[in-house]
Amino acid sequence: MIIDILVVDDEEMIRWTLKEALESEGYRVRAFENGRDFLSYFKQHGGDIVLLDVRLPDSNGLDLLLEVTKIDPDAIVVIMTAFGDVETAVSAMKRGAFDYLSKPYSLEEVSLLIKKIVQANLLKSQLHHYQERLENQFSRILGENQKMKQLREHITMAAHTDRTTVLIRGESGTGKELVARQIHFQSSRADKPFIDVNAAAVSSTLLESELFGHEKGAFTDAQKQKKGLFELADGGTLFLDEIGDLDPSLQVKLLRVLQERKFRRVGGTGDIHVDVRIISATNADLEKSIEDGRLRQDLFYRLNVFTITLPPLRDRRDDILLLAKNFLEEFRKEFSKDINGFREDTLKVLESYNYPGNVRELRNIIERATLLETGNQIRPTSLPEELKKNADIGYVSFEQNNTKPWQATGFNFKDYIDSVEKSIVTEVMNEVEGKKSRAADILGLTRFALRHQLKKHDLDTEN
Ligand SMILES: Nc1ncnc2c1ncn2[C@@H]1O[C@H](COP(=O)(O)OP(=O)(O)OP(=O)(O)O)[C@@H](O)[C@H]1O
Ligand SMILES: [Mg+2]
Repeated sequence: MIIDILVVDDEEMIRWTLKEALESEGYRVRAFENGRDFLSYFKQHGGDIVLLDVRLPDSNGLDLLLEVTKIDPDAIVVIMTAFGDVETAVSAMKRGAFDYLSKPYSLEEVSLLIKKIVQANLLKSQLHHYQERLENQFSRILGENQKMKQLREHITMAAHTDRTTVLIRGESGTGKELVARQIHFQSSRADKPFIDVNAAAVSSTLLESELFGHEKGAFTDAQKQKKGLFELADGGTLFLDEIGDLDPSLQVKLLRVLQERKFRRVGGTGDIHVDVRIISATNADLEKSIEDGRLRQDLFYRLNVFTITLPPLRDRRDDILLLAKNFLEEFRKEFSKDINGFREDTLKVLESYNYPGNVRELRNIIERATLLETGNQIRPTSLPEELKKNADIGYVSFEQNNTKPWQATGFNFKDYIDSVEKSIVTEVMNEVEGKKSRAADILGLTRFALRHQLKKHDLDTEN
């Protein structure tokens, strides 16, 4: 990482010696003899560290300090004061200077101070990565189903090939973002940034300048040059979420980055090279998007180098209870509730639901139930209505309850029979752990008829 140091001093000798000394230590240095030249440069290009003389021909260093922090609150300013001028030093510190140097200072002093600044900042960003890593360890990917074991292998493979573009597919709430983070944090890029961009969340013009950055004046609001997320993610991973919604003009630009690993800022002329791994995710049918002309095929090929597909929760029903128990453990602690588990009938209800919103929906259900539950076990009354409707339809509840199904508003004979069929087949399939020949025996159906039932109710796990 190159550090930009800006020196502002009206004495040529000072400018020259500082520039020579700091450049020899590998910093990039620019020197200015007055406040005006410096400000106009800084507004346009910014800088990391500013060494600012207090007494300048056209302005006061303390006023400039305020201007600098207004333009970029992260810029680090060191004020250079006259010997013994404690007052100025104090007000500089109050106005947000990082430190001050009083003249005459040695080059060694300057060099040490710069090192201190760089280290403090490095530490700050390392700390940030470290925290993210820690957080990540706690959001483990749960699941013991065969499909999840395979998923873990794929994640490890993707993590080890750390330049390969990865596409993560799966319905909403199946854990795509979780997987993307896992790949990053298992890879050699782990101590570099993981930057997450949602293509559907912002307009395409904004997204373009977010991704690629812009030069000052590239458009009306571009008052200052800005680095894009591709630059900020350098060395790390850029996660492009909901890639199916990308605007056609951005598709072309993204394609270029994927092909050539370089791009231009909006309004810029020079190419910028980056080393960024791209992971994208979608719940959309991309093949259909290509057919409909909404997605470029060449872009699809570039994104789809290593594909990871996440199974919907209903295709790994044996993980439902494992997930539910883990989520209960999490929320029980969070809400300090004295709950020690689920009642048997609650488990039945949880197991027989279809989870169109997948793991996210299950997680929300458990969160809500933990909050609502007043006893020390989660009871079906703490679960949302839809789940119970799904679970206790069928002749069992018909006989147990006094209200007759056809007395309910919106009763429809065909739908009712369908739901009875579905709940029976679901329950039996769970009981036999998906073994179709046993389920067919229990139900008195031929294997062909059972297969028909599974297809009809979308319970077929093999497709
Ligand atoms: N296997 C899993 N183990 C534990 N938690 C999971 C798992 N899968 C998903 N989750 C949790 O479910 C929620 C949804 O996951 P995530 O945001 O990764 O889904 P997504 O596929 O990106 O969804 P969307 O398409 O809606 O963006 C998160 O809270 C996540 O932590
Ligand atoms: Mg997501």
